[in-house]
Amino acid sequence: MENKDFRMVAKTMFGLEDVLVKELEALGAKNIEKLNRAVGFDGDMILLYKANYLLRTAVSILKPLYSFEANNEQELYDNVYKYKWEKLINSDGTLFIEPVVYSTIFTHSLYASQKTKDAICDKLRKMFSQRPTMTRDNPDIILNLHIHENQVTISLNSSGESLYKRNYRVAVESAPMNEVVAAGLIQLSGWEKDCNFFDPMCGSGTLLIEAAMFAYNIPAQYYRRDFAFTKWSDFSMPDWKRVREKADREMGDFDYEIWGSDISGQAIKTAQENINNAKLHKDIQIFRNDIQDQDLPEGKTLIISNPPYGERLEVDDIFDLYETIGRVFKNKYSGNTAWLISSDFEAFKYVGLRPSRRITVYNSNLECKFCKYDLYEGSKKAKKQNPEANLPE
Ligand SMILES: C[S@@+](CC[C@H](N)C(=O)[O-])C[C@H]1O[C@@H](n2cnc3c(N)ncnc32)[C@H](O)[C@@H]1O
Repeated sequence: MENKDFRMVAKTMFGLEDVLVKELEALGAKNIEKLNRAVGFDGDMILLYKANYLLRTAVSILKPLYSFEANNEQELYDNVYKYKWEKLINSDGTLFIEPVVYSTIFTHSLYASQKTKDAICDKLRKMFSQRPTMTRDNPDIILNLHIHENQVTISLNSSGESLYKRNYRVAVESAPMNEVVAAGLIQLSGWEKDCNFFDPMCGSGTLLIEAAMFAYNIPAQYYRRDFAFTKWSDFSMPDWKRVREKADREMGDFDYEIWGSDISGQAIKTAQENINNAKLHKDIQIFRNDIQDQDLPEGKTLIISNPPYGERLEVDDIFDLYETIGRVFKNKYSGNTAWLISSDFEAFKYVGLRPSRRITVYNSNLECKFCKYDLYEGSKKAKKQNPEANLPE
């Protein structure tokens, strides 16, 4: 197995690059470089296994193979053809190419991936009189084709299906949160696992499960078995097993409460199914309640919640709900810290409390603000004469 260092790229979502840098530092990655929705780093195959198993805020780990310039389709074809694909892909194997294209030259990403596939298949057919089969379904090799204008990078995708697919969710409610975003928000909040965690609008329970996994140091992919690198020719099962066993031994205890609640009985049922599936039923408690009637667990509590967005969920009066949230924060949750994530910037104004931090993140393709409220005892409402004070920047 290759035990030399090589370059890798961990892809993430907008706004989570800094927390991913910290996660990679903790794993011992070298030459870490923050990129746009990605972080570059050096390491060996063991680190590639660890990155896949442990990183909470990465969506995939790529191993770049080579880069080149292509100013037209022929140059793309010729440059792809040059690579020694025979060292990587069996001519009777299976292959999938995932295109990520931002280019005025290659305006159709599928066409660019078609050209790439043609070059690889033509080359292997010429050498072995047969060509790999293209399939999306559990292929032997997944190539990531990244084109930015005329700059092309072809990488091996070591993860396969996106790493947000943790495999603990058996069901979702409408507008569920992406698991990587949930994990990222928890880390962005700076939670040091030194108090309770509570989500009063928990939906399918994603924030609760990610909080519990973080609190108990449960590896991000503890529930998942499929990773693309396990099909690579240099895959080492003993090393992979060692990485997982070491990480699993490091799971620990957490001395505080993790609570969630939601007004919808269906949401609570779904959250409970997901919690049970993750075997976290002893660690997370959930309640069916309107936020107005829901008490906090005893003791210092971090609140992170994702109220309905106007775009994604119908609520009778979204502004009323945000006003209620602000009132509950002020009257019932004072003395604690609360964070809200929403893409409804207008609705945020109705919370009526001035956020002390605002961070831009994306949930799926929706631009959101993640706003922090320091709920000091006797928090004052933002002054009426300055309604813009509550507006996320
Ligand atoms: C955007 S969803 C939360 C999604 C969640 N983060 C997930 O991953 O599934 C918003 C949730 O707020 C709940 N909700 C709406 N009004 C509420 C209220 N007054 N009190 C408590 N929950 C409420 C909805 O039932 C819904 O499940």
